[in-house]
Amino acid sequence: MYQSLEAELHDHFWNSEEDNTSELPLLQTFLKEHPGKTLEIGCGSGRLLLPLIAEGFDVEGMEFSQDMIQLLETSAKEQLLTPKVHHADALEIFDFEHKFHSFLIPAFTIQLFSRGQAHDLLKRLHDSAEKSASLYLTTFIPWAEITGELEEDEWHLDKEITLPNHSAARCETLHTIDRLNQTLHRRHRYSLTSSNGMDTRTHKSEQVIRYYGLPELTLLLEKSGWHLENVITDLDPGMLHPNAHLLTITASAEPS
Ligand SMILES: C[S@@+](CC[C@H](N)C(=O)[O-])C[C@H]1O[C@@H](n2cnc3c(N)ncnc32)[C@H](O)[C@@H]1O
Repeated sequence: MYQSLEAELHDHFWNSEEDNTSELPLLQTFLKEHPGKTLEIGCGSGRLLLPLIAEGFDVEGMEFSQDMIQLLETSAKEQLLTPKVHHADALEIFDFEHKFHSFLIPAFTIQLFSRGQAHDLLKRLHDSAEKSASLYLTTFIPWAEITGELEEDEWHLDKEITLPNHSAARCETLHTIDRLNQTLHRRHRYSLTSSNGMDTRTHKSEQVIRYYGLPELTLLLEKSGWHLENVITDLDPGMLHPNAHLLTITASAEPS
């Protein structure tokens, strides 16, 4: 997972969709309200981590893909930043020399874990948290797949962009969905074709995504020791959208 072209194209695809859908403003607000030592689980190439560090927030990263870490190190060097990144599997290693004031799990990373793994991870974060610590996480609900608007078992063009060097990047996706267990299985085909069309690299990957409604997410947090503090839908702190695609929650390590 998150190797080769999937890693290389990750930020290009996210940034092409970003406009007003970036999580950065929410993360900045959260960290201003919850200052102190912070850990981002699954920090990837530093897409969110590096801008936060550049602003002076005290955030460390944890990431298990060597390819993603390589990209992060290159960007950090270009920006003259020196992030502290733990190259580790969040499901296995959890041994820090200090406790954290907050944890970030943006960009749906929690959905890559089985429900049991998500519970274990959240519990271990709670064990590594300062007493008044806080948690921020974002999940998405795949409505197009749930409603059948996006047909199952067929390849769909998911993303297609031209990179600054004029090569063409594509991601095609085929999915199956288990609505009873709220699990989405996705296969991805990535391709990158040089600007003269002569050279194409390809990469395939598979992902299992678990999706959650708010009641289940709240129960998962409570069972792991966290207490729901705030809910934001579709990255809009203004009002709750009942049919939202994106669910951001913040929680505290002790009841308010
Ligand atoms: C959807 S990407 C998000 C990356 C980054 N947070 C961002 O917003 O650009 C999920 C990231 O989590 C990492 N990841 C997944 N499972 C992990 C695990 N068990 N331990 C550490 N990192 C993990 C993946 O390698 C990937 O970089």
